[in-house]
Amino acid sequence: MASLTITPGRSLQGTISVPGDKSITHRAVILTALANGVSRVTSYCRGEDCLNTVRALKALGVRIDESDEELCVHGKGLWGLTEPNGPIDCGNSGTGIRLLTGLLAGQDFFTVLTGDESIRRRPMGRIVKPLREMGATIAGRKGGELAPLAVMGSRLRAITYASPVASAQIKSALLLAALFAEGTSRITEPRLSRDHTERLFQFFNIAFRREGTTLLIEGRPLVGWNAAPRLVIPGDLSAAAFFIVGATIIPGSDVTIRQVGVNPTRVGLLDVMMSMGANIQLINRREEAGEPVADIRVKSARLHGVAIGPDLIPQTIDEFPVLCVAAAVAEGETIISGAEELRVKESDRIATVSAELCAMGAQITEKPDGMVVRGLGTAEDNGRLQTAHGRSHGDHRVAMSLAIAGLTTSAPTVIDETACIETSFPDFHRTLLELLDERR
Ligand code: S3P
Repeated sequence: MASLTITPGRSLQGTISVPGDKSITHRAVILTALANGVSRVTSYCRGEDCLNTVRALKALGVRIDESDEELCVHGKGLWGLTEPNGPIDCGNSGTGIRLLTGLLAGQDFFTVLTGDESIRRRPMGRIVKPLREMGATIAGRKGGELAPLAVMGSRLRAITYASPVASAQIKSALLLAALFAEGTSRITEPRLSRDHTERLFQFFNIAFRREGTTLLIEGRPLVGWNAAPRLVIPGDLSAAAFFIVGATIIPGSDVTIRQVGVNPTRVGLLDVMMSMGANIQLINRREEAGEPVADIRVKSARLHGVAIGPDLIPQTIDEFPVLCVAAAVAEGETIISGAEELRVKESDRIATVSAELCAMGAQITEKPDGMVVRGLGTAEDNGRLQTAHGRSHGDHRVAMSLAIAGLTTSAPTVIDETACIETSFPDFHRTLLELLDERR
């Protein structure tokens, strides 16, 4: 069983890069596979989640040449996918399985989609129900609530659907299905979730309209879209988040993270950290593939607690595990509410983060929809956690957050079950060691 040992006592210094954005990589692979011609996707995320989506598209008949830096995707056009000759394994990826289910619902062939133990526990009814309303034939465990899902491709009709949750996975699954459906679909979400699918649609000139939080899209376009000779994936803010929090809470740190995606639907962590007192600067702002990008410079700072309500949840959703580390060492109370979606992520993050950080001396009270964190910091200094033997619960973001928590303790911290870090950030430990460089 893989484990990670974190040795505290040094500040974080230097300039690093993080993997390409995981959400954008999934979408780029799918949309370039459906394009006409050959696309080149560079700086993509080589985490297992995205590699599983690459394997899925290969199984669906798309030629994809991989190198460390670039994917060369030989797009087969909108109607060019073909039946795979075995089940598709999406591994640990909720985005992978949900987007692919939407994509495959309207094909003229049969597919089975499955994943690891965590994926087979996660709710699929949220996409299966609206897809069935579009005419999809999908079977699964517990009436389609749980994977494996068997998708008997069928002729879809457009849908008017108001999602009860602000979820980019639901929105994107339905947008992909809507491309193959007859008529105009109208997809509404209660709050704007990450809009990478919409931005890539724009990048590829795939027609749709936005009216508030409703997207309107006409299915079965007569002509598809052209391949992208160069699609550069920005760095993943959700990977940068660990170093943003680490550099803030460890005194004497100064870290720059190059080329990070700063899409407004993703930057909740930056806003919350700055309202807690963090010293974060965005420099060299530019655009890549229709996404805003910047270099992020972070210097250590003293933090104080804040209230994070429902309005801030969608744009911060994946960063709560590491944000809780910041809250645990800040001065005063941080209250997180309206975040019940955290219970259905790779792990129940309200439960796993509370349990693991409390074992390190944090003071956290679980709530059904969030938590109350009483920070250990004072007006003079950020607080410090205590060494404990940590466990990831199979959740990559919990594993990496505990590593950052371990930087604040007085003795080394061991974290077990860290193989899951491979799903999003294979080089996490090496990048952290680079910032802690012992030769300094
Ligand atoms: C993602 C959407 C979010 C996020 C997940 C990636 C995406 O999930 O938590 O890590 O790429 O669409 P929800 O759609 O469930 O909110």
